[in-house]
Amino acid sequence: MLTAMGVDFTDHTILNSQYVTAVDEILKIIAVRFRKFWLHSDYTFRWSNVRKKQDACLKILHNMSDTVIKRRKTEFDNNNILPERTTGNTSGKKFKAFMDLLFELSLEKGVMNDRELREHVDTMIVGGYDTTATVLMYTLLLLGSHPEVQEKVYQELKVVLGDSDRDVEKHDLSQLVYLEAVLKESLRLYPIGPVLGRRLDKNVQLKNYTLAAGRSCFLLLFGIHKHPMWGADVDQFNPDRWMDPASLPDNPNAFAAFSLGRRMCIGKTYAYMSLKTTLAHVLRKYRFNGDHTQLELKFVVLLKPTSGYYVSIEERL
Ligand code: HEM
Repeated sequence: MLTAMGVDFTDHTILNSQYVTAVDEILKIIAVRFRKFWLHSDYTFRWSNVRKKQDACLKILHNMSDTVIKRRKTEFDNNNILPERTTGNTSGKKFKAFMDLLFELSLEKGVMNDRELREHVDTMIVGGYDTTATVLMYTLLLLGSHPEVQEKVYQELKVVLGDSDRDVEKHDLSQLVYLEAVLKESLRLYPIGPVLGRRLDKNVQLKNYTLAAGRSCFLLLFGIHKHPMWGADVDQFNPDRWMDPASLPDNPNAFAAFSLGRRMCIGKTYAYMSLKTTLAHVLRKYRFNGDHTQLELKFVVLLKPTSGYYVSIEERL
């Protein structure tokens, strides 16, 4: 959170449970509107209870982005330049948070107005926080369901980080190749953005149909990840497939967890870094047990469980 958003998540005046609940609610509202055709029209939606709930959630979400912007603006006004941040770990290195690049464009260079800045801040906060948290949950559950894979990850961590308790550094991350394979496989089985929406700007000819320009269409990433081109073990959690390029489908678009093309996720590299760092810390100390086959999923813009998480944690002694 600190490196991406410049927000210290230990500061409960910012990222509190009210905010987390509001994000959950707003995702549910989008999914409800998506499913109920009578709420598609702005006119009927305006008079619905769902709209009232949406307004209440947006108030909480905007309050958060306004607080973040206000704090950074005060620092800017006092110095006329955005002060650099310092990492909270032992290295104490100076760094620029991802979000500060936006503030720089707005406050120092005047490229966008306050409303545009807030919209970008909202996108970054929502796009960057619930996503990695949900992927972590699925990955830990999958590792808990596959002890032999978890053991391989643990052995890799031992080789790269040794027995010490030191911080994970940037140069360690590129060596955690098996952990990356685990993350990719977890994102293949549980793509947290299972459906993408697009408006067509030109006709698209499929085998038996033409999708007309001007229409909306939805791309089922979940389906692409379960396509037979992945092989007979398509439904199995098998991170080893990522260790050998020859065992992957020929089509490079077969894996689309971060979307494809020009509007694909801008946080992909950052997400892998953040996920690997968190997992390295957690898996060095704890062992997970679980059963992912018990999961029941629901579509609330993101792919989330409706059931509990079916995971337990024990300390490695
Ligand atoms: C594993 C974690 C993540 C996954 C699976 C993921 C997935 C996605 C997907 C599928 C999209 C495309 C949505 C669409 O095309 O309609 C997207 C867009 C985006 N993501 Fe991520 N994301 C992740 C983490 C992050 C993080 C950590 C950040 C920021 C630090 C981020 C920022 C964004 C932004 C700003 C967009 C919109 C890009 C645009 O519209 O041009 N994401 N993400």
